[in-house]
Amino acid sequence: MMQTIPLERYEKSASYIREKIGGAVPETAVILGTCLGPLAEEIEEPVVIDYTDIPGFLVSTVASHAGKLIYGMLSGKRILCMSGRFHYYEGYDFNELSIPIRVFHLLGVKQVILTNAAGAINYNYKPGDICVIKDHINLCGASPCRGQNLEEFGERFYSVNGMYDQKLRELAKSCAVKLGFSLQEGNYFFAPGPHYETPAEIRAMRLLGGDMVGMSTVTEALTAAHCGMKVLCLSLATNLSADRTADPDEGIDKVSQMVSGRFGALLREIVRQL
Ligand code: HPA
Repeated sequence: MMQTIPLERYEKSASYIREKIGGAVPETAVILGTCLGPLAEEIEEPVVIDYTDIPGFLVSTVASHAGKLIYGMLSGKRILCMSGRFHYYEGYDFNELSIPIRVFHLLGVKQVILTNAAGAINYNYKPGDICVIKDHINLCGASPCRGQNLEEFGERFYSVNGMYDQKLRELAKSCAVKLGFSLQEGNYFFAPGPHYETPAEIRAMRLLGGDMVGMSTVTEALTAAHCGMKVLCLSLATNLSADRTADPDEGIDKVSQMVSGRFGALLREIVRQL
C-alpha cells in the first residue's frame, strides 16, 4: 500500500512560504511551463524563493525549468508564480505531484493559471498557436488524489466535469482578441514521457479527441479541482505532434522564444481582468 503524504508536509511548505511573503494571501497562482520561464521576469517587487529552500516541497530536475517560486505584482495584482514545475517523468509519483497546488490552497489561492508547451495534434493547429484547454484525457489511470483522503483539501469523490472554468476560458479568448489574435480551444492529452509519442500513439490520441499532447498539467488540474480551485490552462503549441514531424523536439526553444512576447501579453491582460 502506498504512503499517503501527511497534511503536516503540505503545512510545513505553506508556513515557510507564508512567512517569506509576509503573511500575504495570494488569490491567483500561475505555473509557467517549459521555456515560458522568462515571463517570471515581468513580475514586479518580486520575492524569490528557491524550491530547494522550501521544506517538504519538490525539487525541479529539468534544465529548462528554473525551480523558483516568485511572489509579486503582475498587472497590478498580487500573484504567486512557479517558474518551473514537476513532472511524472522526473520520477515523482502522481500523489507527490499534488504538493504545489495543495500548498497553494493552504496559502489561500482560489484560482490557478497553468501554462505548458505541447505538441499540436489537431491538423488545424500549428507551432506558435496558443490553445486554451477545455478538457483533458488522462489514460494513465492514475490520480494525484489517490491514497487516504485528506478532508482539508476536499471530498473523497469529486466531479471533474467542467474543471477548466468556462468563464476563465471566455476571458482568455476575449483578452486574445483584444490583443489582436485568436486562441485555439481544445483537449489536452496527457503523455507520461519522457520520450515523445509514437506516430501510432498520436493517431490514436487524435481519434480519441486529443488536440494537444503534453507531459504535464493534468496532475495540477486534478489536484486543483479537488480543492475547489478554478483552473485556466493555456497551452503553447511548440511543435507538430510526432506523426506530423520527424522530430517533435526540434525547434521547441525557437518557437517558445518567438511566442513568449505574445504569451506574456496575454497572461498580463488575463491577470489584469481577473
Ligand atoms: N509531446 C509531448 N510533450 C510535448 C510535446 C509533444 O509533442 N511538445 C512539447 N511537450
